[in-house]
Amino acid sequence: MIKIAPSILSADFLKLGGEIKAAERAGADRFHIDVMDGRFVPNISLGIPVVKAMRRGTSLPLEVHLMIEQPERYLEAFAQEGSDILIVPQENSVHLDRTVQCIKDLGKKAGVALNPSTPAVLLEEILEELDLVLVMTVNPGFGGQHFIEYTLKKIRQVRKMLDSRNPKCELEVDGGIEARNAPRVVKAGAGVLVAGTAVFRHEGGAKAGMEALTKSLQ
Ligand code: DX5
Ligand code: ZN
Repeated sequence: MIKIAPSILSADFLKLGGEIKAAERAGADRFHIDVMDGRFVPNISLGIPVVKAMRRGTSLPLEVHLMIEQPERYLEAFAQEGSDILIVPQENSVHLDRTVQCIKDLGKKAGVALNPSTPAVLLEEILEELDLVLVMTVNPGFGGQHFIEYTLKKIRQVRKMLDSRNPKCELEVDGGIEARNAPRVVKAGAGVLVAGTAVFRHEGGAKAGMEALTKSLQ
């Protein structure tokens, strides 16, 4: 069963509670929260207070996508406020193993994200330790960007690696996912789809956005 993780970055923050309820009722499996620091990525977005508020607003799992420098400095705070999955970038972790172990020691699931130009092989050594691999299908930093076609090859590669070495690890994709390309990323091996614009900016609202995505996968 393919999971959908709506990214609240594209939600209407004035009505965040209602937005997540609508997505939840339409079958969201978890929520994706994008944390950006204006350094690792050019944009600044959400932080710890938003995770805390989201925790009160839903019982679904919360995954926190850390697009920040030195993510290890904030793992404990995000864990304490109710995150279930913590995702760190591969590109800024010299001591990725330490960071991943730290997430697990906090009792949370550990994910690692790969930018579009980062090869899958950089996860070769640590693959067995991971609960989730996040293949970025846009350059991180903004919602509403176009899906980068060449990332399909990497999705297939990661799928192969996980099937043989860590089949329980989730393979998630993030960026530009919509009804038009969702079937292709799933065919390539993705099991979890992050979707911001396609859910929260759908002309019919979050419910209609979720339905369009789900329908495309049938
Ligand atoms: C991009 C973020 C994404 C973003 C996805 O840097 O990591 O999670 O919110 O938004 P869409 O689905 O609009 O590309
Ligand atoms: Zn994200």
